[in-house]
Amino acid sequence: MKDNPFQPANRLTGATSPASPVPGGVTFTTTNLLKTPGTHGRGRFIVRGTDVRSSARGPFLQLSLGDKNGEVTAICWKGATLAEKLAIGNCVEIDRFQVDDFGPKFEVGELRLLGPGEFKPEEFVATLPANEIARNWTEFHEFMDSIRDPHLQKLRQKIWGDPAIGEKYKIHPSAVFHHHNYVGGNVQHVVGIMRVIEAVCHSYPKLDRDLAIFGAAVHDLGKLKEYEVGASIRVTDEGRMRGHLVIGAEWIALLCAELRAEGYPFPKPIEEDLVHMILSHHGKGEWGSPKPPATAEAMLLHLGDYIDSQTKKFLQDIESNINNPEGWFKRFDPDIGENRWIRTRREPA
Ligand SMILES: [Fe+2]
Ligand SMILES: [Fe+2]
Repeated sequence: MKDNPFQPANRLTGATSPASPVPGGVTFTTTNLLKTPGTHGRGRFIVRGTDVRSSARGPFLQLSLGDKNGEVTAICWKGATLAEKLAIGNCVEIDRFQVDDFGPKFEVGELRLLGPGEFKPEEFVATLPANEIARNWTEFHEFMDSIRDPHLQKLRQKIWGDPAIGEKYKIHPSAVFHHHNYVGGNVQHVVGIMRVIEAVCHSYPKLDRDLAIFGAAVHDLGKLKEYEVGASIRVTDEGRMRGHLVIGAEWIALLCAELRAEGYPFPKPIEEDLVHMILSHHGKGEWGSPKPPATAEAMLLHLGDYIDSQTKKFLQDIESNINNPEGWFKRFDPDIGENRWIRTRREPA
């Protein structure tokens, strides 16, 4: 859990308090603290979702609030009409929360919508520390340097030699929720997969290591167009319409075609392998892949992606629920279609 960006609250400044001090001496609570029953607090958050629900007491507002530590759902019993005034991406200040066993609550009059000049969007997006981003970027290029296939090296130059792609790739998040959902998450995730691939290729030398490593590098390339970073990480229209597998597969095909148009004879079979690996890396149709893996390298990429994303998701979930007094929490897991109990700590032996 050492490399989790959510504890302490602000890894960039090295602050160890879970609360977030701002100029003027006001201390705001964070989403992490709002998961602890008995907490009271004042906070500033980005609205990540609004939902009006009904109960025996009448309609109420369920508000998803985010900051760089994560996300929390708060209830406002008489706040149903607030939903019309709030949009995803708005910044709100809530003067007083009360947190009970069922989560944070607040009263209608406690919420204030902040104007554009009253907050800095980047304060709300989680980010890896700059030195971790730099370290992951170096390791990424060490893996890429080890590829011996000259055609893949040519395509590498075409992709990451373009600053418009390379600079974005270096700092891009890998998700809105789930795992690696912070600035620098993409390369951290890719390097995690490359390490898995390296270990498996060591046991199975018949695998095309160059192809598998390069496949890891490009498997989520489409996320550069699927997500954009502002006050929160959001899915673009293109991302909603096509998703990163299709975007990435088409992008790679286009870059290969550009190489050929520039006079470089990029082999069609390598292009087809890469396109297939991108399209199949989610493993099956229910998980978003139009085709399951059909080559050993595509299967290895899928498994590497699954290992890295699921392990990190567990670690992030555990870290953000670390204050749970029971030492357990429950979350819905769409992969198994049911709730999953997760333990946050073991009793001392
Ligand atoms: Fe993916
Ligand atoms: Fe991935």
